[in-house]
Amino acid sequence: MRHGPNAATARAYSNIALIKYWGKRDSALNLPAVGSISITLDALYTDTRVTFVSGLEQDKIEIGGRTTDPARFTGFLDRIRQHADITARARVESWNNFPTGAGLASSASGFAALALAATQAAGLNLSPRELSILARQGSGSAARSIFGGYAEMHRGERDDGTDAFAEPLLDADAWPLDVVVAITATTSKSVNSTTGMQDLDQRSDYYDAWVGHAETDLAAMREAIEDRDFARLGALSEMSCLKLHGLMLSTRPGLIYWNAATVAAMHAVRQLRADGVGVYFTIDAGPQVKAVCQPADTDRVVAALEQVPGVLEARRSGLGPAAHRLD
Ligand code: DP6
Repeated sequence: MRHGPNAATARAYSNIALIKYWGKRDSALNLPAVGSISITLDALYTDTRVTFVSGLEQDKIEIGGRTTDPARFTGFLDRIRQHADITARARVESWNNFPTGAGLASSASGFAALALAATQAAGLNLSPRELSILARQGSGSAARSIFGGYAEMHRGERDDGTDAFAEPLLDADAWPLDVVVAITATTSKSVNSTTGMQDLDQRSDYYDAWVGHAETDLAAMREAIEDRDFARLGALSEMSCLKLHGLMLSTRPGLIYWNAATVAAMHAVRQLRADGVGVYFTIDAGPQVKAVCQPADTDRVVAALEQVPGVLEARRSGLGPAAHRLD
């Protein structure tokens, strides 16, 4: 039994992938079939407090004040308990400052914050890489939210997942970008990412092409970031997004995450570009549109997206820092 504090609070920020992750090479360890590159967002975050309480019968999970089924979390917490050699169940209290489960990457910030808070509460001091490997087992995209700024997730080759982690590519302040999130719905999405990706190799004829081109896209994005080439970064991220949604549409049964406002916002972004504003969209497994731009153009992008019918809110974000403790 290790001795340390039995409670800790951590904050982790959401991220959006510029080169997308979709598909798993192993679902037990949650190993991605492809690598991914993301930016961490400072406006969307999760705060999580974990307390290990002796005598508690089962893990108690509260998200935004509402008790949640502990099933998805107990297995995750068990890995930490095993590593720390403790048996106490946990009380987890978590708050998102944005709608949960609506394609705003709550699982990314959520599992990154949980990985940090729970390991610290268990008396473990993991390295960022170890935290990333742990967070990945909660949600693939969470591995990237351990880091701030620009991060790359490696698919890895090993069966045990020890080489499937994210790494920082560039700090947030080395190349500031903004993201305007056009929120078009606040209800939970119909098919979550994990379900959407299940047995994808059997369910989409496009899957091999998706996996086969991933390395080329990642290399191009790495280069765009290294060169601070915004037009290239934007074009590549829009392409990766549309390719992902092509794959989703090709899945049996077809996954349609867009609503009418999603499509209208995509056209609004392209219209802005035709008018000379450097802005590019990306969309995850939900109906929200994230418009990536340079800070000088953010006001104009917000104003244009607010005008789109069906857009409820256009929330601006800069690039966020790494996950950190709050207490
Ligand atoms: C479309 O990380 O939510 O946002 O690993 O099953 O929890 P699980 O999936 P998740 O998938 C994210 C998919 C995506 C693209 C991305 O973030 O790279």
